[in-house]
Amino acid sequence: MSMNLMKLQEVIRLTDETRQTTNTMRQGVCGSMHINQLAVIGAGQMGSGIAQVMAQEGKEVFIHDIKEAYILNGIGRIEKNLTRDVVKGRKTEAEKEAILSRIHPVTDLQDVREVEFVIEAATENPEIKRNIFKQLDQLMERETILATNTSSISITKIAAATSRPDKVIGMHFFNPVPIMRLVEVIRGMATDDQTEQTVKDLAEEVNKVPVAIRDFPGFAANRILIPMINEAIYCVYEGVSSPESIDQVMKLGANQPMGPLALADLIGLDTCLSIMEVLYEGYGDSKYRPCPLLKKYVEANWLGRKTGRGFYIYE
Ligand code: CAA
Repeated sequence: MSMNLMKLQEVIRLTDETRQTTNTMRQGVCGSMHINQLAVIGAGQMGSGIAQVMAQEGKEVFIHDIKEAYILNGIGRIEKNLTRDVVKGRKTEAEKEAILSRIHPVTDLQDVREVEFVIEAATENPEIKRNIFKQLDQLMERETILATNTSSISITKIAAATSRPDKVIGMHFFNPVPIMRLVEVIRGMATDDQTEQTVKDLAEEVNKVPVAIRDFPGFAANRILIPMINEAIYCVYEGVSSPESIDQVMKLGANQPMGPLALADLIGLDTCLSIMEVLYEGYGDSKYRPCPLLKKYVEANWLGRKTGRGFYIYE
C-alpha cells in the first residue's frame, strides 16, 4: 500500500472517530449529521472554491479529479486566494499552511469511499454527473450523503441514477465561492429531512446562507440570472451595443457589481449555454432560446476567463 493511501486512510479513520462522537450528540437534537471530512469531486473553479471554504472551517477535504494536473491547478487557485488573505492581514502564514494541509488530492474514487459526505462539482453535463453518482453509489456506505453542485440539472434525475435517492441533494454554491454567501439547497423528490438539515447546517458552518429552493429547471438564481446574461448577449448579437457598453449600462444603470458579459466570462460561457439549454428544454418555452452568438463562442472554445478569451481577452 502506498504511503499516500496509508496517510489518507489514517486521516479518514481519525475524523471518523470524531464524527461518531459528534453525531451521537447531534442526531438527538435535530437529526442532522455533523460533517468533519468530505470529498469534493471536480477541482475546477467551483470545486476548488468549495474545497477552500470547507478546509477553512477545519474540514478534512479530499479533492478528486480525473487528472492530477487538474487538481494541482485547483489547489494552486486556493493557494493564491489564501496568499492574498495573508498579504491583506486576514490570515497568518500558519493558518494558510494549516488550511492547505487539510486538502488532500485524490485521483482514484476508491480512495474516498469511506468519507462521510460527498459534494460533486464536475462538468455541467447530465450524463457525466449521473455516471459519477452511479459510481459513488456503488462505492460509498449507504448512509453517505451525495450532494451535487449542479447549477441547473434536475436533482431528482441525478438521484434516480443511485439506489439512495433519499441521500441525494443539491447544494449549489456561487462563483467566486469564497466570496458569495448564497447556497441554494434543493431537495429531489425523495430527499429526506435529515439530508436537507445536514446540508443546511454544513452551509451555515462554512459561513454561507442556505436557501431552500424547489427542484425546477435552473432552480431560482440561475433561472433569473442566466436569461439576463443571454439577453445581454442578444444585445451584442443584434448590434445594440458593444460588450463594454452593455456592461457599463448594467453597472451604472442597474448597480450590478460587474456587467453581465464580464459575469458570463467569469461563470464560463459553456456553463451559461448548458444552463440555457436546460431551461429551454425543461420549460419548452422559446423565451429561453440560447443566443446563437453564445453557441458560436462555445464552439470557438472562447469560454471566458478559463480559456483566456470570451467577451473580453484575459492575460
Ligand atoms: N476568488 C476569491 N476572491 C475573489 C475572487 C475570486 N475568484 N474574485 C475577487 N475576489 C475578491 C478580491 O480579492 C477582493 O477582495 P479583497 O480586495 O478584499 O482582497 C474582492 O473579492 C473584491 O474584488 P475586486 O476588488 O477585484 O473586484 P469587485 O469589487 O468587482 O468584486 C466580485 C469581484 C466579488 C466577483 C464582484 O464583481 C461580484 O460580486 N460580481 C458578481 C458575482 C456573481 O454574480 N456571482 C454569481 C455567478 S452565478 C453562479 O455562480 C451560479 C452558477 O451556477 C452559474
